[in-house]
Amino acid sequence: MSQAPRGARGIEPVLVVIPTYNERENLGPILDRLQKVLPDVHALVVDDGSPDGTGELADERAAANDHVHVLHRTEKAGLGAAYIAGFRWGLAREYNTIVEMDADGSHAPEDLPRLLDAVGDADLAIGSRYVPGGAVVNWPVNRQILSRGANIYSQIALGMRTRDITAGFRAYRRPVLEKLALDEVNSHGYCFQIDLTVRTADAGFEIVEVPITFTEREIGESKMSGSIIREAFLRVATWGAERRWQQLRRLVKRR
Ligand code: GDD
Ligand code: MN
Repeated sequence: MSQAPRGARGIEPVLVVIPTYNERENLGPILDRLQKVLPDVHALVVDDGSPDGTGELADERAAANDHVHVLHRTEKAGLGAAYIAGFRWGLAREYNTIVEMDADGSHAPEDLPRLLDAVGDADLAIGSRYVPGGAVVNWPVNRQILSRGANIYSQIALGMRTRDITAGFRAYRRPVLEKLALDEVNSHGYCFQIDLTVRTADAGFEIVEVPITFTEREIGESKMSGSIIREAFLRVATWGAERRWQQLRRLVKRR
């Protein structure tokens, strides 16, 4: 339980980091929805040189609106690297809360006010598909199995209780990202989400899960791939073994 009313410390200003790779048709609508729901928040588009012109569109939006910012990176270097760059950008400025959100409409900006409410009393709020009230819409069965499996596997291997540890819709309070050693994080793909959840919990921060509905994109393609799955599987196994080893050592020392 938190003692001080952390909400009173203020979660604002809020920065929503939106990584993009070939999301030209999705970017405009998601920025419009975000600004309609929360006109005061700032958005940072982190584009990895999308060949479809997403970066140019982001520049146009930024030129027309001082709440929109763009970070251009030269090559597709993965979701994790894009987020780390976005976090650094936010930490170098005055933002007190930094949000992760996909560009493809899977995460509803309309759910963000609830996520921000929750993080007012915590350190990390995760938009969760797998707590009561959470849901997934239009995912093929194989993707559902993969996601459920990844969560169960992570819970067992890492001894974590987080229900949606791979979730990509989340709000971090500034002190969390300041404390985590971001330069040590080298998870490229979606295991970045697992990696940061574990680091946040291990650093003693409070994590809450808020139910959200994840709706599969209607336009464009997921960037999920075999190598992203492989990376997650192997890394979770390694982290799990390290954690068990540490636990064992602590147990032996105590005797
Ligand atoms: N800059 C950048 N670089 N952006 C990327 C990259 C990259 O290498 N790879 C993906 N993105 C962007 C996409 O353009 C999109 O805005 C967002 O990251 C999510 O990518 P998707 O490819 O649509 O992810 P998904 O729908 O398969 O997976 C979602 O669910 C996973 C959990 O099951 C995401 O929310 C993941 O974050 C999440 O782990
Ligand atoms: Mn998606």
